[in-house]
Amino acid sequence: MIETESDGYVGYCGLEDVTVARAIHPTIGSGVQLQIALHPRAWGRGLAKQAIEALTDHALHRCGLQRLLACVYEPNERAHRLMLRCRFSKIAGTADPKLVIYERRLP
Ligand SMILES: CC(C)(COP(=O)(O)OP(=O)(O)OC[C@H]1O[C@@H](n2cnc3c(N)ncnc32)[C@H](O)[C@@H]1OP(=O)(O)O)[C@@H](O)C(=O)NCCC(=O)NCCS
Repeated sequence: MIETESDGYVGYCGLEDVTVARAIHPTIGSGVQLQIALHPRAWGRGLAKQAIEALTDHALHRCGLQRLLACVYEPNERAHRLMLRCRFSKIAGTADPKLVIYERRLP
């Protein structure tokens, strides 16, 4: 991700096969999961929400996916707030590692 104002690199946001989530939670089925990581200096400015909304729109409305998944480590409160702000819903959890799995579906 490149910030328009500064033209500087602020982090990564992308889509990948749901292999990790499926390995720890086999009932999750197949699909695509979202990954995001910003440099800490870019946190707290709404950039992650902007990136996820753009990527979700691309995945659901242009790529034809029915749903997107995301896995968040349970203690990662900032990431949970982000997922809920981006209208993802909790669908499952795992005990070891402690992960919460989120989903966003086409309306
Ligand atoms: C998870 C992560 C991407 C969240 O980044 P973030 O900066 O908190 O998320 P956003 O870009 O949506 O910013 C929202 C925060 O900015 C604040 N903010 C300030 N100005 C804002 C603006 N103009 N617009 C929106 N939010 C703004 C919000 O109040 C919010 O803060 P809060 O959560 O303390 O209430 C980041 O913490 C990160 O990269 N973590 C490491 C990797 C990781 O955990 N990835 C997630 C795995 S799925």
